[in-house]
This record gives sequence, structure tokens and C-alpha cells, in this order.
Amino acid sequence: MYTQNLSLPSGCILRQATATDKWSIRSLVFSAKLDPTQLRWQQFSVIECEGSLIACGQLRNFAGAQELGSLVVRSTWRGRGLGSLLTQHLISQATQPLYLECLGEQLSKFYSRFGFLTVAFENLPPSLQPKFRISQLARKLLRVPVVFMKYSGEWEMREKDK
Ligand SMILES: CC(C)(COP(=O)(O)OP(=O)(O)OC[C@H]1O[C@@H](n2cnc3c(N)ncnc32)[C@H](O)[C@@H]1OP(=O)(O)O)[C@@H](O)C(=O)NCCC(=O)NCCS
Repeated sequence: MYTQNLSLPSGCILRQATATDKWSIRSLVFSAKLDPTQLRWQQFSVIECEGSLIACGQLRNFAGAQELGSLVVRSTWRGRGLGSLLTQHLISQATQPLYLECLGEQLSKFYSRFGFLTVAFENLPPSLQPKFRISQLARKLLRVPVVFMKYSGEWEMREKDK
């Protein structure tokens, strides 16, 4: 599993979003053509660099589960570990079993580094299935390479120890 200690570029900070980040978050998410629903700034963590937002990601809440979503790094900042930093941060903030959906092998490999494993649609929590059902249909009917994943790393092991 991916355990590298990444650090932020100088001048950048990782923080919880505030109300003033609302439109920057929307702009980042729309630019990446990601799911535009439930973009509540209260659920977001962001990376700010010299006054502008360069990355965001959120934890959407469902009954007995959370979804890691809306992970975007501004294109000019990609490949420097910011996506990994945010993913690790969001995992550390999760309070419920954590799931995500992503498109394609490159992204599923990216998430597997942090402890996410592929999970069948049928094994998703009932509260998440309605949201992921459209993707499941697209996967089955149109062969869209959607992958559902569950975080199976240290957080879950800690839960089992309780
Ligand atoms: C996926 C994403 C957040 C990664 O951010 P990042 O800051 O570039 O990530 P890191 O630098 O920590 O890691 C880069 C890794 O991401 C992987 N990756 C996955 N999808 C990628 C993409 N579309 N473009 C670039 N890298 C991608 C690469 O394999 C790369 O691996 P490497 O370290 O072996 O080169 C970023 O590419 C992005 O914003 N993509 C568009 C939005 C998106 O698809 N979000 C995910 C929704 S599920």
C-alpha cells in the first residue's frame, strides 16, 4: 500500500473548505466533468496555493457509508502528489465505511495504492446503490469501464479491533 509521506509545495495549504470556496469548487468539479450533485462546501477539503484553489475532494454522506468524490487537481498541478495527499487526507477524515466510483483502469490503480479494493455493485451498502445504479447500468449496457471500490485499509482494520 501507498505510504509515502508527501508534502505540499511551498506556499500551499490543505484545509477544510469554507463558504467562500463554493464557486471555486464548482468550477474545478465542472472542469473535470465530474458528478455535479451534492457539492456541499461543508464536505470538502481543498488545497490552496497563493490565494487560489488548486485541488478539492469531498466525503459525501450516506446512511452507514461515505463516498470519496469530486477529487480534482487543477490540470497544471497534476503529477506532483497533490491528488495522493488529498486522497490520504480524506481517508483519514472518514468516519464510515468508505466507497468510491471511478472510470477506468488508471484511476482504479491510483486508488488501489491507498487501500481501495474493487467491490461488486451487489456488495455496495443499500444506501449507496441508488446513486451508483446509473453507473452500473452504463457499465452493463454500454460497457463503460466504471469501477466501484471500497476502502479496505487501516481504518477498517482499526474498526475491527474495537
Ligand atoms: C486523478 C487526479 C486527482 C490525480 O491527481 P494528481 O495530483 O495528478 O495525482 P498524484 O500526483 O498524486 O498521482 C499521479 C498519479 O495519478 C494517476 N492518474 C490517474 N488518472 C490520471 C489522469 N487522468 N491524469 C493524470 N494522472 C492520473 C497517474 O497514474 C499517476 O500515477 P504515477 O504517480 O504513477 O505517475 C487528477 O489527475 C485529476 O484531477 N483528474 C481529473 C479528475 C478525475 O478524474 N478525478 C477522479 C474522479 S474518480
